[in-house]
Amino acid sequence: MKKKTLGIGIIGGGFIARFHIRSWVGVRDADILGIFDPDRKRAEEACALVKSLDVGSPKAFKSVTEMAADPAIDALWICAPNYTRTEVMEEIAQAVIKGRGELRGVTCEKPLGRNVKEARRMLELARKAKLLDGYLENQVFSPAVTRGKDIVWARGAALSGPPYLARAAEEHSGPHMPWFWEGTLQGGGVLNDMMCHSVEEARFMLTPPGAPRDVLTPVSVSAYTNCLKWQEPRYAEILAKMSGGKTDYINRPAEDFARSLIEYKNEAGKIIVVETTTSWCYVGAGLRLSLELLGPEYALQINTLDSGLKVFFSRQVKGKAGEDLVEKQNAEIGLMPVVADEATEYGYIAENRHMVRSFLKGVRPEENFSDGLNVTELLMTAYMSADKGKTVPFPPPGLENYIPPVAKGTWNPKKK
Ligand SMILES: NC(=O)c1ccc[n+]([C@@H]2O[C@H](COP(=O)([O-])OP(=O)(O)OC[C@H]3O[C@@H](n4cnc5c(N)ncnc54)[C@H](O)[C@@H]3O)[C@@H](O)[C@H]2O)c1
Repeated sequence: MKKKTLGIGIIGGGFIARFHIRSWVGVRDADILGIFDPDRKRAEEACALVKSLDVGSPKAFKSVTEMAADPAIDALWICAPNYTRTEVMEEIAQAVIKGRGELRGVTCEKPLGRNVKEARRMLELARKAKLLDGYLENQVFSPAVTRGKDIVWARGAALSGPPYLARAAEEHSGPHMPWFWEGTLQGGGVLNDMMCHSVEEARFMLTPPGAPRDVLTPVSVSAYTNCLKWQEPRYAEILAKMSGGKTDYINRPAEDFARSLIEYKNEAGKIIVVETTTSWCYVGAGLRLSLELLGPEYALQINTLDSGLKVFFSRQVKGKAGEDLVEKQNAEIGLMPVVADEATEYGYIAENRHMVRSFLKGVRPEENFSDGLNVTELLMTAYMSADKGKTVPFPPPGLENYIPPVAKGTWNPKKK
């Protein structure tokens, strides 16, 4: 008999795992029963968080294979760094193929791969192991995005025509761990790290409700990248210190600013546009996610820092630096926005509910590895465009094996 409650194992017990764990208070019929992290302390901290929220009674496993083999575990969530993606997925697939573990599904955090080859390998391995696959793009599950899409399409688009322009931005003051800053480890700079969100949520908004992804065909991509802040000597020094001297933004920077313009053709053959901008040099209150959707007689806008809750602390309140008001918080005094329930508002609860419901029903999630691969294809085309300084038709020749200069550690805008 099929189990009614899924046992979930999380691979990687860091920053994003904590978001998923916190989101679990809103997920039914699944418990977090395992964590694997090569850093034992991290694994134990994640287990303690699960227990404190009463969302499972997890065990800290010694390896991916051991966790996959435990009969209590039915699905795995990949939340490890980008540079471990394919080795983690190879291990999962091997465990299933060799009959060591029985799993229903696997989900993977963004990006699916550091380049097209890796992302395609992830999809192939999931198929080979006959696993249902979910791509963890939380923003297409954010309540403001899904509710906004429903309303705009039901009212504005139904009466005046479909939207023609989606603008999305994801900006903050820079990642929390040194590996994100290294092009070779992460796969790029901010374009790879954060434009993946903007590209996918903008595409989602322009797609009619319930329609498959291929009703929109990418036609061309035009992009620009630069390192506006972090290559300045005083900021490069901060990165060097944070990484024990490893990160060298004077000689091996990654882009901290990127924009892209993607032209799609819709079913009627009309060109519609996605415009994205993203940066690691936005010093506002904290993480700012913004989205606009424009159509003939309507507009939608979202800005996560326009929060309903705001607090004010005078200059007499000299508290410690923290991230208790908003993700990537930059200040503790003055008038500060608070995102009251980040796990809900950024989409993690609806995302994990969807993945769990899909796995329980035995159906492929609506956001899956094919979507993750498509996002990677668009991002790599954006790197090609930025590299060439011109608009690139999609799909460009050589996309399958393309590695951006920033991911090879050879990109330096000051030496152009
Ligand atoms: N959806 C989002 O908005 C979002 C936000 C942050 C991070 N992410 C993604 O989540 C992933 C993890 O990022 P993070 O911020 O949690 O990083 P992190 O560095 O905070 O945590 C990663 C954890 O993985 C562990 N780890 C290292 N190698 C591993 C391996 N081989 N197997 C299992 N665990 C391993 C590390 O010890 C660490 O505890 C990245 O791919 C990142 O792009 C997504």
